[in-house]
Amino acid sequence: MKTPAFTSGALLILAAVSAPSASLAAVGPAPRATLSISVNSVTNSVQVNISDAGNHSWVLQSSRNYVDWNELATVKIYNGSFQHGFPGDASASGVFFRAMFDATRPEVLSTTENALHLPAIPFGYAATPLPPSFLVQPILAQDNMPASNVTTDAGATLGRVLFYDKRLSTNLNISCSSCHQQGHGFSDPRRFSTGFNGGLTGRNSMGLSNARWYQRRHFFWDERAATLEDQVLQPIQNAVEMGMTLDALTNRLAAEPYYTKLFTKTFGTPAVTSDRISAALAQFVRSIISTRSKYDTGLGRGFTNFTAQEDLGRRIFLGQVGNATCAACHGTDNFVPGPAINNNGLEFPYVDRGLGGITGLAGDNGKFKVPSLRNIELTAPYMHDGRFATLDEVVEFYNSGVVDNPNLSAPLRNPPGPGQSPGARRLNLTAAQKAALVAFLKTLTDPTLATSERFSDPFNYR
Ligand code: HEC
Ligand code: HEC
Repeated sequence: MKTPAFTSGALLILAAVSAPSASLAAVGPAPRATLSISVNSVTNSVQVNISDAGNHSWVLQSSRNYVDWNELATVKIYNGSFQHGFPGDASASGVFFRAMFDATRPEVLSTTENALHLPAIPFGYAATPLPPSFLVQPILAQDNMPASNVTTDAGATLGRVLFYDKRLSTNLNISCSSCHQQGHGFSDPRRFSTGFNGGLTGRNSMGLSNARWYQRRHFFWDERAATLEDQVLQPIQNAVEMGMTLDALTNRLAAEPYYTKLFTKTFGTPAVTSDRISAALAQFVRSIISTRSKYDTGLGRGFTNFTAQEDLGRRIFLGQVGNATCAACHGTDNFVPGPAINNNGLEFPYVDRGLGGITGLAGDNGKFKVPSLRNIELTAPYMHDGRFATLDEVVEFYNSGVVDNPNLSAPLRNPPGPGQSPGARRLNLTAAQKAALVAFLKTLTDPTLATSERFSDPFNYR
């Protein structure tokens, strides 16, 4: 049994009947929205799903005769969608449900209390506990937190809300988290990400674990952003990614009561400015810190928690077994390079010039930033173009596939010396050694990063 979409006067009505799992999605003249309603006859509840990028208030009603309608609830959409189970009626068969948009009714405002699930006492972002190696060189010198934007709990909380808010894209379709997904190490499982209008990004999304630590400070694969504060405003204005202007964004956010409160808590006054948006987003991104992997546990105890295979992989990574040089470029407990930006021999000629596309220098062609290898297991696919689907493919590439080219970084070349030919280094790892290297890379996974509420979507979808 299905009913057609109802329209009465100027109202848009979406309706569905309560036959078990019957649902009807209808898109009306305005606003654009979809509704599905299904009845769970086991729990005797009515599951209502509404998606509405315009974040309107909907009135949910039921009827037995299409004539008399009971109001069940006013449903406010806070960030594009709503899912909720309402208690049903034991004799539910023959009951019809509809969600109605009524332009004459006042909209429910989004406040910090109804739109967001935020803890009463903010998460402690400012005082994230760090392992001892983070408090001394060389990691101290990697820290890119500027004195002008020191992370506070209120600022990172505001940044968290902004990071998940679809209002940052022009058609309210996507948020930062659409392409930087927590369960994927704040990266995107798709090779290229889809922007607000269906367009594809030119490169693979980057994982954000420990982005706070990178000695060269710069952001993006080609390092085109000088600071994180610069970087975070770029996707918002990018024509493929979010398509917004900063003026439109500040006006839109200033109209939301929950931002009035969050900006005031962070900055003392409610003014929404692009500098403040940038500061808060950067604070949240810098708070995405991963220090609870198996590797971290092993650090203090000689890796006695590792399997024999993981420990073999660790020694290969460090060059203690065989001739791999991974740690030369993926160094320290953050697994990031030092002062150099590198070419790892993916291809020649260069399809993507990387840093060279920014500086115009031939010697920079094919050189790319690499984000921390922390949580690398979660951030597939790999490399700036997402060319490798698995870590096995990455390891096989370093083992046998590095392409010689004028800018190939020294650690990936054959070492100079008698009897050595110039060119790309070959590792000649056995199958067991390759598997061990992959097993080691997986010890860098921190399950708390992928699941912690402090980094998760704070919006109330019911
Ligand atoms: C449509 C997908 C998409 C959206 C939306 C998006 N990003 Fe990204 N992000 C990417 C891609 C792709 C890259 C790499 C682009 C490049 O290097 O050319 C990237 C790179 C980054 C980096 C650089 C990391 C590093 O180590 O250098 C940061 C930080 C970042 N994004 C944060 C954000 C924030 C904050 C937002 C929201 C304001 C956001 N992104 C929105 C796809 C996206
Ligand atoms: C000369 C420096 C250098 C060495 C040595 C090196 N890498 Fe890399 N690595 C890079 C660069 C640069 C990138 C990013 C390249 C790109 O996408 O264009 C990268 C990317 C990666 C990635 C993918 C990162 C991502 O987020 O997609 C993994 C995994 C990786 N390397 C593992 C290793 C392992 C394992 C070794 C040792 C066998 C190794 N690397 C040796 C420089 C190096």
